[in-house]
Amino acid sequence: MLENLELLPPDSILGLSAACRADPNPDKVDLTIGIYMDERGVCPVFEAVQQAQRALVEQEISKAYLAPAGDELFNRGLQQLVLGSDSAALAAGRVSSIQTPGGCGALRIAAEVIHAAAPDARVWVSDPTWPVHIPLISSVGMPLEKYRYYDPASHGVNFDGMVEDLKNARAGDVVLLHGCCHNPCGADLSLQQWGVIADMAEQQGFMPFIDIAYQGLGDGLVEDAAGLRLLVSRLPEVIVAASCSKNLGLYRERTGATIFVCRDEANAQAILSQAAVAARRVYSMPPAHGALLAGRILTDETLGEVWRTELAAMCQRINQLRSDLRGALEKHSGLDFSFIEKEKGMFSFLGLSAEQALRLRDERSVYMLDSSRINVAGVNASNLEYLAESVASVL
Ligand SMILES: Cc1ncc(COP(=O)(O)O)c(C=O)c1O
Repeated sequence: MLENLELLPPDSILGLSAACRADPNPDKVDLTIGIYMDERGVCPVFEAVQQAQRALVEQEISKAYLAPAGDELFNRGLQQLVLGSDSAALAAGRVSSIQTPGGCGALRIAAEVIHAAAPDARVWVSDPTWPVHIPLISSVGMPLEKYRYYDPASHGVNFDGMVEDLKNARAGDVVLLHGCCHNPCGADLSLQQWGVIADMAEQQGFMPFIDIAYQGLGDGLVEDAAGLRLLVSRLPEVIVAASCSKNLGLYRERTGATIFVCRDEANAQAILSQAAVAARRVYSMPPAHGALLAGRILTDETLGEVWRTELAAMCQRINQLRSDLRGALEKHSGLDFSFIEKEKGMFSFLGLSAEQALRLRDERSVYMLDSSRINVAGVNASNLEYLAESVASVL
């Protein structure tokens, strides 16, 4: 039976990253996969994580399963990080959350719960969106609709197009929004635009579903959650899929949560029970290690301070890289790359064609997605000039 299955091509992003690793060119540049890399090209472990880990190893006396909803300290800490410790929804007790295997697990559990609540719901996704959203959500059985989002000509959000498309979202539909640092384009909504989305959700009755995987990597922890918090302050129901992969550097520990902001406390508990049953169906219990570390960091004042300082430095470095990259590209090409500095987080489209992206790979060992999406954190002082000169050579 199994011999009937064909060999599938590698995942587009992971496959390119593997091709770069196998490339013997010492000047190669990997701008593919969305992980933060420091000046040495290493994805580092946060000092706060190392400290929490040392303490955990000393104290941990059991590897028994966590509860289905995960670690309580972690869930509490992450709710406060995402919604704000002064959140009225939190104070009213109308929030519940389940710890999940990363942001992907959070998206999947959210999709399972939405499907159980509203089997006819359509999920509206931005065009473009992170490609993994599509199989993660649609495989639960919900149809996807696209709304216009990125305008390649202006390198910004096509907000008029977005609003026009979302006018077709009905009561009972779900609109997936990137909380900050849009993947793949880096173009984010302004707070005023988030307000317009809140008005539309109120009037039309659709529910926002917010994927926040980069909180703290755009402008800062509070700033990056401002749009999400605005929606939560105005609407009765919002679902959030949060990831600690990037902002705590816990990628391989698979640490995230689905946060349900519900109409009231009883409803929040009912939804949590649905999420726990959905998790049991898919993977049972979440992994412990990352959440036990994150829970400590997010709720301990000293560790939290160490972490926030590291994260702020990371965020500042990304923004510095954006302006360095803009400067180098403009110097080598004579063209306007100011949009790179306006975008947020790790990603940008350089605006190259697929042929140009392919030439960069073949001729220069510079690896980016065919869409010319780059991970800005793959740039460093030693590859900046080579990268900019290479890009200019194919323009
Ligand atoms: C937009 C977006 N959402 C969610 C995730 C989920 O990440 P993870 O499952 O690694 O926490 C990612 C990771 O790259 C992402 O880019």
